[in-house]
Amino acid sequence: MSARKILVTSALPYANGPIHLGHLVEYIQTDIWVRFQKQRGNLCYYVCADDTHGTPIMLRADREGITPEQLIAQVGKEHLADFTEFSVAFDNYHSTHSEENKALSSLIYERLRDAGHISSRSITQAFDPVKNMFLSDRFIKGECPKCGALDQYGDGCEVCGATYSPTELKNAVSAISGAKPIDKDSVHYFFDLANFSEMLNEWTHAGHLQPEVSNKLAEWLDGGLQQWDISRDAPYFGFEIPDAPGKYFYVWLDAPIGYMASFKNLCDKQGLDFNEFWGKHSDAELYHFIGKDIIYFHALFWPAMLNGAHFRTPSAIFAHGFLTVNGEKMSKSRGTFIKARTYLDHLNPEYLRYYFAAKLSAGVDDIDLNFDDFSQRVNSDLVGKVVNIASRCSGFIAKRFDNKLSEHCSEQALFHEFVVANVHIAELYEAREFGKAMREIMALADKANQYIDEKKPWLIAKEEGKEQELHEVCTMGLNLFRLLAVYLKPVLPVLAGNAESFLNIGAQAWPVHSKPLLNHAINVFTPLMTRVEADKIAAIVEASKEHLEKTAEPVKAKKCEPIAPTIEFDDFAKLDLRIARIIKADHVEGADKLLQLTVDIGDETRNIFAGIKSAYSPEDLEGKLTLVIANLAPRKMRFGLSEGMVLAAGPGGKDIWVLSPDEGAEPGMRVK
Ligand code: MSP
Ligand code: ZN
Repeated sequence: MSARKILVTSALPYANGPIHLGHLVEYIQTDIWVRFQKQRGNLCYYVCADDTHGTPIMLRADREGITPEQLIAQVGKEHLADFTEFSVAFDNYHSTHSEENKALSSLIYERLRDAGHISSRSITQAFDPVKNMFLSDRFIKGECPKCGALDQYGDGCEVCGATYSPTELKNAVSAISGAKPIDKDSVHYFFDLANFSEMLNEWTHAGHLQPEVSNKLAEWLDGGLQQWDISRDAPYFGFEIPDAPGKYFYVWLDAPIGYMASFKNLCDKQGLDFNEFWGKHSDAELYHFIGKDIIYFHALFWPAMLNGAHFRTPSAIFAHGFLTVNGEKMSKSRGTFIKARTYLDHLNPEYLRYYFAAKLSAGVDDIDLNFDDFSQRVNSDLVGKVVNIASRCSGFIAKRFDNKLSEHCSEQALFHEFVVANVHIAELYEAREFGKAMREIMALADKANQYIDEKKPWLIAKEEGKEQELHEVCTMGLNLFRLLAVYLKPVLPVLAGNAESFLNIGAQAWPVHSKPLLNHAINVFTPLMTRVEADKIAAIVEASKEHLEKTAEPVKAKKCEPIAPTIEFDDFAKLDLRIARIIKADHVEGADKLLQLTVDIGDETRNIFAGIKSAYSPEDLEGKLTLVIANLAPRKMRFGLSEGMVLAAGPGGKDIWVLSPDEGAEPGMRVK
């Protein structure tokens, strides 16, 4: 097997905020895959960088009274320190605000322009007359045109979920200065994505994407490709466009080029050939690991840009789902928006690497970090199964055999079975089916423990004349442990490294033809991993609550996120749907759509605000039965706490229906 040449990237974390556990899903996933490739003997480079450009960075630096350069230097250091402690081992970590990126962005832009893929025209945009800058939708605030909620951003309402354009906002103001925006014209530059329709139609169906991703893209492609606005007016923290003074590349233009720039920087440091990996005729493999929110940029814009600028396109884009914590979106108020640093202050990073590995698949499903499941899995799999094997055997090897493994092992069938398993485990790692790989490895760990349970070294140890048998059983146990450690090495590099020191062996390669380690001196065993302590998790949640800050600056807008994605049956099953009797209904002072309902859900009464005033007067509702979601997290509204949601159906206006009294239904009845 000749070694493959592989270049791997993770999405460049935005320099506007700290690394959190959601990000880590991606960096840990990528790092595991890269470590696996390296362990297999492939030539594999893993590069990344901070994504440093854009308005939010500029404004934050402004607020902190430092330059954007100072800000990104500081954040870059923090990001890298977090990654390093989680054992995310980049071959290079760079910045999009670099010479390499500037040169490559200009080069790509000029090639696209010279090939006729760039056009320009004037557009009208909201402008802040105080700050003297154009305002993107996320920097305009006002009242929601649908529900009247105050302080909503220009692209959508966080209270009612409506999406609209900023011109529809009532009493709109600039989120930066508070001034009333004016309309202003300016020339913008566009990348003519439609020129690549044919290329993209083909590319997105040529096996470079996961099936669910290419289906989604087919929808976007069928909808027709729009021109992509790639310029922003000064003031903007970014690169000035070569032939357009005062115009800057939009951050999403130079961000993916940052992958190339980081690799170029590595090439210059190590004397590697850039074109071998990025040239049109490269025979290297190129993979981008990303979250599902940025598919559009990576699977449409990016291949088109590369193709139009005569570079190679990616071998594949690997998208993953989003992290939820205890079944919910990460939340600052619940203390589940956990920064990498906060986690590191309390728990072993390898717990999280293992937990994510156990949950990850090749698909784009979201993954949930459930704290109980987390402790239970780490404790039972890693501490209870894997490390336990070593501790069960090492004591006898130390006390009775002077820390030396036996010369022979009569029973090698089990060892052989463990070695053969390498083929399937490797296939699973290669296919990013890490959860399945962990299950295979744990099944082996179960077998190793069974072997020890059957042989009962603690009994043999007490019998006369069974020295040899005791020695061989414990030697075999440690040899099985050695294979478990090598299979887990991509996920748990620290644990595997400590196991290698304990076993007194060098760094283990992938065990294709492994033989048992015999007649070999090992070192004294020290516990390789301790149990997760529940109070540490509580401390993390507590500390994350303390970090509660108002998100002063909006994050970079991400287009094309589905508003209501398809949910799985498991998600549906989480809903506690109940029949409720409306015992009281009232008008709400100051609300033109809402009624306040007191409902009986069987075992308790709840206060619920429902937007059904257009169809019902309060007196029509009292005594009626309706359907509610009883386990919706309570929500603080302007008028009070809403403790559930009434389900009603209909096109709106007068036509909204709740259930009527019915003989068969009783408050509290569960509906499924
Ligand atoms: N800067 C852009 C990427 C540019 S790539 C040329 C960006 N940055 S980000 O910091 O917002 O996100 C970085 C990566 O982390 C993205 O792939 C994103 O999907 C991923 N995640 C951010 N939050 C996440 C979760 N809660 N869960 C899983 N992944 C998440 O996007
Ligand atoms: Zn609204």
